[in-house]
Amino acid sequence: MTDTLTIRRPDDWHLHFRDGDIMRGVVPYTARQFGRAIVMPNLTPPVTTANLAAEYRERIVAAVPAGVDFTPLMTCYLTDTTDPDDLARGFAEGVFTAAKLYPANATTNSAHGVSDLAKIYLVLEGMEAEGIVLCIHGEVTDHDIDVFDREAEFIERHMRAIVRDFPKLKIVFEHITTADAVAFVEECGPNVAATITPQHLHINRNAMLVGGIQPHNYCLPVAKRETHRLALRKAATSGSSKFFLGTDSAPHLRGDKESACGCAGIFGAPYAIESYCIVFDEEDALEHLEAFASLNGPAFYGLPVNEETITLERADVAVPEELDLAGQTIVPWHGGQTIGWRIAD
Ligand code: DOR
Ligand code: ZN
Repeated sequence: MTDTLTIRRPDDWHLHFRDGDIMRGVVPYTARQFGRAIVMPNLTPPVTTANLAAEYRERIVAAVPAGVDFTPLMTCYLTDTTDPDDLARGFAEGVFTAAKLYPANATTNSAHGVSDLAKIYLVLEGMEAEGIVLCIHGEVTDHDIDVFDREAEFIERHMRAIVRDFPKLKIVFEHITTADAVAFVEECGPNVAATITPQHLHINRNAMLVGGIQPHNYCLPVAKRETHRLALRKAATSGSSKFFLGTDSAPHLRGDKESACGCAGIFGAPYAIESYCIVFDEEDALEHLEAFASLNGPAFYGLPVNEETITLERADVAVPEELDLAGQTIVPWHGGQTIGWRIAD
């Protein structure tokens, strides 16, 4: 049995830092483990221009603890009126690494998202030409579509069309939750990949709904039935270069989760790499963790891999039931559980 595992320092290809005190509180958890992270732009107001992204990046960099080497990679929040030239300029200047497509009202702070894909076809054309990665929250928002079917429906209604119309566009299908998405990504060419969160590898929808509503297991897209979780585990641990790490860590205050209308999002950052390691260990696939966590993402984005390494070791760690963040309380993913891996000092 492997009790220690040394891998190149991983990166988180999808997470939410927020802004202000919460951002300053959460950045150190990510910087402790990851060399880089793709930072989602769904602030209020959203990060829609290169100037806003450059300013946001500065605020994040100022929150990285002294002596820690961590690079935030910024994304542009696409709207119906995104300026393709500003996006191209921001990318050329190294401010933007990717752009994020939120269908309007699909999730937290997505009201300014894209209402009709036709409105951003010129932007997508420019992105395809410039090699800018498109990160997609792949869920339809139609009220007549069941929440558990929204990802699969998005594939049929929109994903196939985007891939067909922009055959060279680099697309990351974010936080996939279904066997349908796994199959879709596998059948596409090498320009289409997907991120997978720790929670969607660990839980199915029962964890949210059985024995009472469990708001700390609620995120979007919602966890699906067990067959989908198993398909995600198989994809993540397969060694395929099309799947890589993206926590979708999304901090919400405890009170905002435990509410009559609880927020969507799981704060996965604090024990993220440990959480993935547990899954790869359970699947007897620890030899593929490095590819998923540290190699596939940089290869897809055309970035170098991190030079440093981290070592994971088998050990019991009691995850606190809650964390204090700027005087407020947040429940972390695995909160209150004892997990079997930790990062060695
Ligand atoms: O659960 C989620 N939380 N899913 C998202 O897509 C957004 C995120 C957030 O920002 O809270
Ligand atoms: Zn997200």
